[in-house]
Amino acid sequence: MIGKCLFPVAGYGTRFLPATKSMPKEMLPVVNKPLVQYGVEEAIEAGMTNCALVTGRGKRAIADHFDISYELEHQISGSSKEQYLEGIRDVIDRGVFTMVRQREMLGLGHAILTGEPLIGAQPFGVVLSDDLCLNRDGPGVLAQMAALYEEFQCSIVAVQEVPMSEIDKYGVIAGTPERAGLTRVTEMVEKPPQDEAPSNLAVIGRYILTPDIFDVIRNTPPGRNGEVQLTDALQTQAREGRVLAYQFEGLRFDCGSVPGFVEATQHVYEHYYGKDD
Ligand code: UTP
Repeated sequence: MIGKCLFPVAGYGTRFLPATKSMPKEMLPVVNKPLVQYGVEEAIEAGMTNCALVTGRGKRAIADHFDISYELEHQISGSSKEQYLEGIRDVIDRGVFTMVRQREMLGLGHAILTGEPLIGAQPFGVVLSDDLCLNRDGPGVLAQMAALYEEFQCSIVAVQEVPMSEIDKYGVIAGTPERAGLTRVTEMVEKPPQDEAPSNLAVIGRYILTPDIFDVIRNTPPGRNGEVQLTDALQTQAREGRVLAYQFEGLRFDCGSVPGFVEATQHVYEHYYGKDD
C-alpha cells in the first residue's frame, strides 16, 4: 500500500497575482477550505497519511495550517465556534506532515526531486493542489489510482480529455489502450502546440510515481522554459512501457486559473457547503 504523498507547493502562482503576492496560492479558499486541504484530504482518504510538502519562501502559512493553533484553540474552546475547527483537526490527527524547501523554482521535476529525502525508496502519490478533484459518489481520484497501482505496479498519471484549443497548457499523452479508461503511454509531450499534440488527453495534477523516477529526473536536462519537467522524466519511463494514463471518475477544476477557481467555488458551494462532510 502507498503511504506517502508529495505536495509540490513552491510555485509562484503568478496567474493569481496580486492575491498570491504574499499568500501561497495553495491557501486560496474554495468556499471556506484552502486548496491544499482538499488535496491532503484526498491523499489521506487514499491511505497516504504521510504528507510531504515541498514548500518555498513565503509559504509558511501552509505549514502552520497543518499544525495546532494554540491561541485560537484556547480562545474558542467550549464555544459553539469549535465546530468550525473539526475538519482540520481531524486532518491534523490523521496525517503526518513533513516539509522541505525548494530553494529555487526550477520546475515541477526539480520540486519532486527536492522531495526525495522525505519519500525514500517507495512508490508515492503526487498532488498538485491547484487542481481540485472531487468525486462525490465514489472514491477520490488518488484512491482510484492507488487501487490501480496495486494491480499494475507502475507509474500512473491522471488524464482527461480537453478541448484542442486548450491542449497547449498541458502535458499530453499518446499510447495504446490497456482497457476502458486506461492507456499504456508511449509518448508524452509538455505543452505542445495544437498541431503537434499527439491526442486530446491531458495530464492533470495527480500522479503515482515509482521511486526510480528520482534517478530519471536527476538525469533529465532542463526542457521547456528551462525547467526540469516531470513530463520529460515520465517519457523515459513511458519508453519502457512503465507508465499508465488513467481517465478518472470525477470532476477536476483548474484552480490555478481564475475561471477554474470560480467554477470550483460555485460547484462546492452548491453541492458541498453546509452538507455533511
Ligand atoms: P504551475 O506552473 O501550475 O504553478 O506548477 P505556478 O508556477 O505556481 O503557477 P503560475 O503558472 O505561476 O500561475 C504546477 C505545480 O508545481 C508546483 C506549483 O506549486 C504547482 O503546484 N511547482 C512548480 C513547484 O513546487 N516548484 C516549481 O519549481 C514549479
